Amino acid sequence: MKKSRIGVLTGGGDCAGLNPAIKWVVKTALDERLQGVRGVSYQVLGIRDGWKGLIYAEPGSKDYIQHLDEEMVRTWDRYGGTSLGTSRTNPYDPKNDQSKRVLQNIDNLGLDVVVAIGGEDTLGVAYKLSQTGINVVGIPKTIDKDLPGTDYTLGYDTALNVITEEVDRLRSTAGSHKRIFVVETMGRHAGFLALEGGESCGAYIILIPEYDFSMERVSELLLDRKRMGSRYSIIMVAEGAKPEGSSEVVAGDEVDGFGHKALGGIGEFVAKEIREGRGMDTRSIVLSHLQRGGAPSAFDRRMGRYFGIAAVDLVVERNFGKLVSLTNGKITAVPLETVMEKPRSVDINTEYDTDRYNGRRTILNHVAEKQHARSLR
Ligand code: F6P
Repeated sequence: MKKSRIGVLTGGGDCAGLNPAIKWVVKTALDERLQGVRGVSYQVLGIRDGWKGLIYAEPGSKDYIQHLDEEMVRTWDRYGGTSLGTSRTNPYDPKNDQSKRVLQNIDNLGLDVVVAIGGEDTLGVAYKLSQTGINVVGIPKTIDKDLPGTDYTLGYDTALNVITEEVDRLRSTAGSHKRIFVVETMGRHAGFLALEGGESCGAYIILIPEYDFSMERVSELLLDRKRMGSRYSIIMVAEGAKPEGSSEVVAGDEVDGFGHKALGGIGEFVAKEIREGRGMDTRSIVLSHLQRGGAPSAFDRRMGRYFGIAAVDLVVERNFGKLVSLTNGKITAVPLETVMEKPRSVDINTEYDTDRYNGRRTILNHVAEKQHARSLR
């Protein structure tokens, strides 16, 4: 029987849903019943630490290569993070281009195809490799849900659940102390996590990167709420949100291999403005990497499974250079090139209320809401 070797790796920020995807790539590729029908016998090599693994993996090396079998991955879908490890290493980093080593190692390891599980950076590398003739299939993940070409990215649902649970915990202490809590979520350019997390947990104000906010309006909204008799308020703010006329708040000057600076601090900025400028008792918390941690939600387990199976379907069909995708509720595949398009973001016209700084109160009739907002002012 013909033999073929699949390499699988996870790159970029970890999240829940990666392990289920790896498990199902392995189980589907190694499935004995399917092997007979396909006439191909697959082997799966796990590449450790994302693209870094393919820079340093030598044949026979144990540090970056792990042979995967069904028994080994049997329980992986219950666990968060990635059992293969990850990195933000960019083989095409202009300061240190290592792409030739990756090409050489793919050849040395006898990989017929690389299944890359990642977000825009990891899959951008996958696309560049596919342009050089390497067989690649992509699986989408990022808790930011901003990857073009798919309606779902692994890790997002688990992160929403974390946000909802943590804010549920905050409410009792916020209420006891009559405090305002500003909760900073991840979300570098896209406000999906803050907006949909805020909607899930009932945040009063939600600030997202797609719409620059005014502190005056935030204060007005808080006063309105006080007048209504509420004891406390939850404000959700995405790490990439910014006040009008300012830029994003960065946590430091260091940049990763893809040129990104770490964001962080907008939550405390907003809290300080309210505390010092408006005299209201306010605290901030940063949910940070908690959103990426923990066991995958039921949805991420299922999506990891479906994406993993679909990736192997593409491998079997030798339909390379594709990204597995959820589009309009269906698992499908789109050209990998799609990941190079503009990242997805919240549609301000249909998904965000720029007056209330929150999700919209009409879903089917946006015009009516705009008129209503205007008449109230
Ligand atoms: O990759 C998505 C993300 O979750 C962003 O929202 C965030 O800015 C970034 O990861 C932080 O990643 P790390 O601190 O692990 O480098």
